[in-house]
This record gives sequence, structure tokens and C-alpha cells, in this order.
Amino acid sequence: MNRLNIGGLIAKLPIIQGGMGICVSLSGLASAVANEGGIGVISAVGIGMLEPNYRKRFHQSNKISLRKEIRKAREKSDGVIGVNIMMAITDFDDMLKIALEENVDVIFIGAGLFLKKPEIPEGCNTKFVPKVSSARAARVIFNYWAEKYDCVPDGVVVEGPKAGGHVGFKKNELLNVQKSLHEIVQETVDAMKPLEERFNIKIPVIAAGGIYTGYDMFEIMEAGASAVKMGTRFVTTDECDVSDAFKQNYLRATPDDITLIDSPVGLPGRVISNSFVKRIQAGETMPVRCPWKCLKTCDYKTAPFCIASALFNAAQGNLEEGFSFAGSKAYLAEKIMSVKETINEIMQEYTEAKYLATLKLKTIRM
Ligand SMILES: Cc1cc2nc3c(=O)[nH]c(=O)nc-3n(C[C@H](O)[C@H](O)[C@H](O)COP(=O)(O)O)c2cc1C
Ligand code: SF4
Repeated sequence: MNRLNIGGLIAKLPIIQGGMGICVSLSGLASAVANEGGIGVISAVGIGMLEPNYRKRFHQSNKISLRKEIRKAREKSDGVIGVNIMMAITDFDDMLKIALEENVDVIFIGAGLFLKKPEIPEGCNTKFVPKVSSARAARVIFNYWAEKYDCVPDGVVVEGPKAGGHVGFKKNELLNVQKSLHEIVQETVDAMKPLEERFNIKIPVIAAGGIYTGYDMFEIMEAGASAVKMGTRFVTTDECDVSDAFKQNYLRATPDDITLIDSPVGLPGRVISNSFVKRIQAGETMPVRCPWKCLKTCDYKTAPFCIASALFNAAQGNLEEGFSFAGSKAYLAEKIMSVKETINEIMQEYTEAKYLATLKLKTIRM
């Protein structure tokens, strides 16, 4: 298996753990993945909800907590540590500033078109990787950077329709999928070629969404991906920073439990169904006490529920007043194991898939 090279930043394994909010992937999970040679990612959204008094000083709490989690991850690992920041949050600039001040290895940016190249402090080597759902969006961002800044971001994550959390597709597109992740990856690899030639670089295309096993990983890398980004798979690990109740919810889930909701972020969200989800889907509204304006797109006066509170409640184990985000393959989780065991299992499956593919090729040639 090849190493992953993101603009000169090398990870031993082409496996990135997706940033998961709210407070699902913090320093515990990120450092464990980094220690195994992958890229561990801290999710910045709502990270300050862990701080006492966050309701009164939310943005300040977010800054304190992000810095603290990055430093804790660095203490626990010499590996590659990243931060995930959504453009849809109102303190995007502050979160970006903290991540750059802490010189994190890489920042993944989703939920918006990442057109503005950040100011980079001196001595900072952070790499930038936007997340998109189509080759078209990748082309828009990369061509804009090429024309305006004479450079391009260091890599791109392509997330398909099967992902957990907010998904960059309309609900009807998710119910009637037009393009598979394979197709989107291949189109994005092609879209990056002229830019790779122009700048004489390699732009890694990283695939995400519904990649759970090493077999999935092998298939998507055969389609041209340089690496995979997995969220759901890492939830049911010992080191994942959520409550045990959240993890048990994954273990209990069947394929029928995995469903879609309309989120105040303005995108559909994939979740595990429970009574809270059923009430939202039935059109019920929950009392919203907006502790702060965390999302650019959420109008708390009309929002049917507060997604920040719902996700945080679930992460802390209160599934009566919240729900778990989860990818379409969350029902495959059977037990909770360490990150080391999880990555070993993925690698073993990958090797098996590769061996089977070689056998198949030999049979065809005979
Ligand atoms: C529990 C959970 C929370 C997530 N939270 C975020 C988030 O806050 N921001 C974000 O950009 N992506 C978020 N994601 C998406 C992941 O970073 C990753 O792209 C996705 O999980 C990949 O699909 P998979 O779950 O099928 O592996 C979340 C996913 C899950 C499962
Ligand atoms: S109501 Fe909306 S903006 Fe206010 S905290 Fe909740 S999700 Fe954030």
C-alpha cells in the first residue's frame, strides 16, 4: 500500500479518519489513528461545548477547546494530526486561525466552496484540503486558486452520497443516486490532471462516504483515489471520544435504521433513527434555545430544532434529546475494538482484495 503524500506531508498509510462533530473526534481518536500511521482529525465544530460556561462565551470556548485538543493530540502522538473545519460555522475564521497558529499538519475544509486562500503565518507548513461532492466543485475551487493565487490546494476529498453526517447532495439525489463515488472520483482525478501538469505536482484525490472495509478501500483506490477518509468505521473504537451509549447505538443499528433528516445547516444529514428523529421527520418542532449563532445558515427563530444541541447531547450519551450521525454502512459495526485492531483489519481486508483481484486477472489471462 502506498504512502499518502499531501503536498510533501507524508502519512505512512493512505487512511484518514474523518473529522466528526460535535465532540466525536477529538484528541483521543485523532492521536490513536495518527499513532497507527494514518491521519487523525479533530473536528472543530462546537468543540467549545466541552468547556464550562460555553453558553455565555461560546466562541471563546471554541478557541480554547480547539487549541487544547490539538496540543493534547500532539502530546499523545508524533504522527499526522489534522483539523476539520466547516465553512458553514460562524467562527470559521477563528477556528482556522487557531489551527494555523498551532501549525496542524493539515486542515480539511467542508460545507462550502473554499475559494479564499488563508493568510499563512510565518513558519507554518499546514496543508489545505477542501471537501467536495463533485468534480465540478473541485474544478471551480482549484481553477480559482490557480488563477488568483498561482497555486492550488494540496489535495481534495471527494465525498459521495453514502457518507455519514451532512451530505452535499439534495435529498432526492440521495434517494435516487445518479452518480456513484467511483464515478465522481474518476471525474475528479481527470479534472485535476491539467492542474497537475501546470504546477508539476501530484494532487491526491481522497475518497470518502460509505468506505467501511478494506475491500471498499481497494475498489476505490483502483478507481484512482490516492487515499480514503473514513468516519463511521472509527466511531466504534475504544479511543473514539464519544459516550459508550453513542457507540452502542451503532452496534444495534440495522440497515433500516439509517435514515435522512433535513438539517438546519441546509443539507440533508444521515443519522441513526430513534424517537427524536421520528419526531423531527413527522414535522414536530422542538423548543430552540439558541445559545449562540453557531451556523451561518441556521435561523434559530424558524429552525425546527437545534442541531448543535442534538448532536452534542447524543455524543454525551443523551439519545433521548439527540441523535447520532452515521454513514450508510454503520450497521456493519459488530463490536467495539481498538484503533490498532480496526486498522489492522482494514489492512488485512485490503490485502485480501488485492490478492483476489490478482487471481482474477491471472484467470482471465489464462
Ligand atoms: C458521527 C459523524 C459526525 C460527522 N461530523 C462531521 C463534521 O462535523 N464536519 C464534517 O465536515 N464532516 C463530518 N462528518 C463526515 C466525516 O468527516 C466523513 O467525511 C464521513 O464520515 C465519511 O463517510 P463514512 O461515514 O461513510 O465513512 C461526520 C461523520 C460522522 C459519521
Ligand atoms: S439554533 Fe442553530 S445557530 Fe443556534 S446553536 Fe442551534 S444550530 Fe446553532
